[in-house]
Amino acid sequence: MSSPAPSEPVLELRGVDVVRGQTHLLRGVDWTVRADERWVLLGPNGAGKTTLLQLVSAHMHPTRGEVRLLGETLGAVDVFELRPRIGLTSAALAQRIAPAERTGDVVVSAGYAVVGRWRERYDIADLTRAAMLMRQWGVDGFANRPFGTLSEGERKRVQIARALMPDPELLLLDEPGAGLDLAGREDLVARLSDLAGYLYAPAQVLVTHHVEEIPPGYTHALLLRSGEVVDAGPLERVVTAEGLSQTFGLPLSLDRADGRFTARRAS
Ligand SMILES: Nc1ncnc2c1ncn2[C@@H]1O[C@H](COP(=O)(O)OP(=O)(O)OP(=O)(O)O)[C@@H](O)[C@H]1O
Ligand SMILES: [Mg+2]
Repeated sequence: MSSPAPSEPVLELRGVDVVRGQTHLLRGVDWTVRADERWVLLGPNGAGKTTLLQLVSAHMHPTRGEVRLLGETLGAVDVFELRPRIGLTSAALAQRIAPAERTGDVVVSAGYAVVGRWRERYDIADLTRAAMLMRQWGVDGFANRPFGTLSEGERKRVQIARALMPDPELLLLDEPGAGLDLAGREDLVARLSDLAGYLYAPAQVLVTHHVEEIPPGYTHALLLRSGEVVDAGPLERVVTAEGLSQTFGLPLSLDRADGRFTARRAS
């Protein structure tokens, strides 16, 4: 029996460099993500993970090389048309949300490409979708609370609901597990695992430092070190003790049970 045809690429990077002054933030990056893939992006502090997400969320241009997003080439497309098709969560974006903003408005206003509610009249379809997403991410009880009063874990889930609001074709999550306690992390991993399994979910790229945060159902991994790709491909092949040791510059041993990974220093 022949295998099914691969789905459409949602992002394609060829020979991408990002240079600032004398420093290469990214060097020679080749990477393809297809619509039905869920990627984890692993690498130490300063590896270039956030820089890579800036590129693939159409917030930065490469110094050299080609970036194609959702069938368009960066540099030859209006980024303001592209950005609503890409959901992004990051610490930097979270800081732009006013603490006094009503949490329900933080979610629903995403469809209007503004942070916070201004004077729009949201239509009933948007309000219904926002309510559904808030339920799905376990934050429906906070709709009337100011965003600034939520815990870190609750805020992370609100941001993901917000990022999903415009029904993006690509979802980019920059360290959504940072700052969460054990229960919060496990809750997030389970919800991301559910999302990974939905047939009509967007392609996903999750940035993390911790293999414990890889949700079951994720399919691919990219290992990044000092701006260069150490390895990229199917999760089983790429997430190994050898690959992680090389990426993090430390001998590591790796265990896998029930679809979850744990890593520790090799003895
Ligand atoms: N405008 C800039 N000029 C010079 N260096 C920069 C600039 N922006 C980022 N860098 C450097 O590029 C490197 C990669 O940064 P980036 O934020 O992409 O790393 P990261 O992998 O996301 O790290 P972390 O895990 O700590 O979030 C860092 O060393 C950072 O200091
Ligand atoms: Mg980062």
